[in-house]
Amino acid sequence: MKHLISPLDLSVSELKEILDLAGEIINEPKKYANSCNGKKLATLFYEPSTRTRLSFEAAMLNLGGSVLGFSSADSSSAAKGESVADTIRVISSYADICAMRHPKEGAPLVASTYSSIPVINAGDGGHNHPTQTLTDLLTIRTLKGRLNNLTVGFCGDLKFGRTVHSLINAMVRYENINFVLISPDELKIPTYLREEVLDANQIPFKEVKVLEDVMPELDLLYMTRVQKERFFNEEDYIRLKDSFILDSKKMEYAKSDMLVLHPLPRVNEISTEVDDDPRAVYFKQAEYGVYVRMALIMKLLEVKAC
Ligand code: CP
Repeated sequence: MKHLISPLDLSVSELKEILDLAGEIINEPKKYANSCNGKKLATLFYEPSTRTRLSFEAAMLNLGGSVLGFSSADSSSAAKGESVADTIRVISSYADICAMRHPKEGAPLVASTYSSIPVINAGDGGHNHPTQTLTDLLTIRTLKGRLNNLTVGFCGDLKFGRTVHSLINAMVRYENINFVLISPDELKIPTYLREEVLDANQIPFKEVKVLEDVMPELDLLYMTRVQKERFFNEEDYIRLKDSFILDSKKMEYAKSDMLVLHPLPRVNEISTEVDDDPRAVYFKQAEYGVYVRMALIMKLLEVKAC
């Protein structure tokens, strides 16, 4: 494994190795404090981010390495017309590994073909977000105790939500997974996911429009934001943005051990009154993102605790 572009670049056993290492890092962080001494991570973010960029940077700093990079296309030479291919050729001589977020689907894949350092896809358009998937899987495995035998509800913008696409792709490889897809018609999962992933793997799923109706059957509820930046016109966004709002009343329908996840940022799709519910784990989930990215950096750079 040299790059991480799609969640499927990792086999189930490689995923397990990374999650196991993340678990060891959580238990004994000091043991890993010098694992990346002298190594540099470049964060090439052509699109806004809080968690992904800063958790990557925190991860590298926690490992004893250093970070460099840019946080918007405007503050890089992309604003002057430089291609991703030329940028990554140059960055390959400045850093040992890079994380790239880009609004265009496939941009990190293109970068990986010109790069001599590992490229990590930190989110490409509405396509994939494999390190969010690692974060989600670590959260589920740690707090739920398993990655199989789960009924998982995805709610909100399932069309443009790259975190949903990546997590579905990753989870179909575990046993006895059922999906409940909760969205308005306009924001249903893309056809390729339905046909090439769910149908092709004979994964049971249903598509519904009312969250309350399905709450009692869920083991996990993965809420998502309606992705304003991916809409072609504001009218559609305004019409759809408040389709689902999870509040304390709706949480009354849920199992006592159902977990609520959200990749964040949240806008208004989870009422703040839910934050104090012990089943709401989205802030813990964001914290796990640092540990799993530490584990990923270690794996890609082939370094150990020292
Ligand atoms: N979850 C996630 O990707 O958050 P950011 O957009 O803040 O990085």
